Amino acid sequence: MTLLITGGAGFIGSHVVRLFVQRYPHYRIVNLDALTYAGNLANLRDIEQAPNYTFVRGDIRDAILLDNLFEEYSFDAVIHLAAESHVDRSISHPLTFVETNVIGTVNLLNAALKHWEGRFDGKRFYHVSTDEVYGSLGSEGYFTEESPYDPRSPYSASKAASDHFVRAYFHTYGLPIVLSNCSNNYGPYQFPEKLIPLMINNIREGRPLPVYGDGRNVRDWLWVIDHAEAVDTILHRGRVGETYNIGGNNEWANIDLVKFLCDLTDELLGRSPGTARQLITFVKDRPGHDRRYAIDASKIRRELGWKPSMPFEVGLRTTIQWYLENTEWLQYVISGEYRVYYEKHYGNL
Ligand code: NAD
Ligand code: DAU
Repeated sequence: MTLLITGGAGFIGSHVVRLFVQRYPHYRIVNLDALTYAGNLANLRDIEQAPNYTFVRGDIRDAILLDNLFEEYSFDAVIHLAAESHVDRSISHPLTFVETNVIGTVNLLNAALKHWEGRFDGKRFYHVSTDEVYGSLGSEGYFTEESPYDPRSPYSASKAASDHFVRAYFHTYGLPIVLSNCSNNYGPYQFPEKLIPLMINNIREGRPLPVYGDGRNVRDWLWVIDHAEAVDTILHRGRVGETYNIGGNNEWANIDLVKFLCDLTDELLGRSPGTARQLITFVKDRPGHDRRYAIDASKIRRELGWKPSMPFEVGLRTTIQWYLENTEWLQYVISGEYRVYYEKHYGNL
């Protein structure tokens, strides 16, 4: 099996790459990543020398590069994670999200189609997507695979469009696709623009903790390695043409989660209880802020036997500990210094 993983230097992608490289020594794994601000090869330092692993710096917006890559490696399968992933950035720069998430995905579909056409047996194009495509829930109910699409942010609109294209290539050309839509991931190596690492870092530095709106927006949180396990399960055993929802069955209002993070971080830093909570600051709401996400993950559990394994408090403690111990990683990522370093090494690839 020769496997192309896109976006493997990002948060979720790096956990997926690590899992596949370690679990399948007989697979050849090619990680294609543009190393945007969100991609960081330091996320993969422990496996970068593995004999079954290759990194290629490249952009999915570049159709010619993708064509050449498929020619060179004859991929059997693709796990497509590369994306612009941050909702707040999509509000200020929507077009970047169209270019990478929509056009980049169509470029990848075209490359797979061209190189696999007439030889679809054993091939698989796996598109990793988000629960945000389903829009926003009230206080009741869950997103199922049949929930209508109702994206509200430029990010979710771009992911919804990419999902539609992936399904269109299945129906129109017979491309063997599979999709998953997952809830909020947390764990090590997440870029500190996202809620959990941002809060941990601000607590550490004694800076204000910006909670959007009234803080009552609800998210479902999943340990990132549980997501990587689900990706493995779906790649190998998911039914072609199907979509699987993935979730942690673990809903939290933002303000409750931030308070929990404050208390755990105080404890791990040896500070007196209540110190971090004083930093909580309510700020202007995110425009179009989805109120609640919640996933019905019964299909993947019933059909493929996957379920989340990490208890939330254990996962959160592990995550906080990781950020507190990896300040060098954090500084690199925040300062952009790591980009200069990697530019030197990969600038001409
Ligand atoms: P991330 O922002 O941490 O990583 C994205 C990666 O894609 C980075 O390494 C970046 O360099 C790369 N990339 C961006 N644009 C590229 C381009 N044009 N060409 C090649 N590489 C490019 O994102 P993440 O949080 O790890 O999310 C990964 C995927 O999972 C995304 O498709 C996202 O929509 C989806 N997802 C994320 C979550 C979550 O909670 N983070 C939940 C559900 C689904
Ligand atoms: O649901 C899956 C999605 O989860 C993924 O598709 C996205 O890629 C990922 O970024 C994430 O989107 P969210 O918008 O839910 O994640 P974020 O960490 O940005 O915000 C989580 C919640 O916390 C959301 O309700 C907004 C709020 N928030 C966020 C930040 C960064 C704050 O209150 N303050 C903040 O400073």
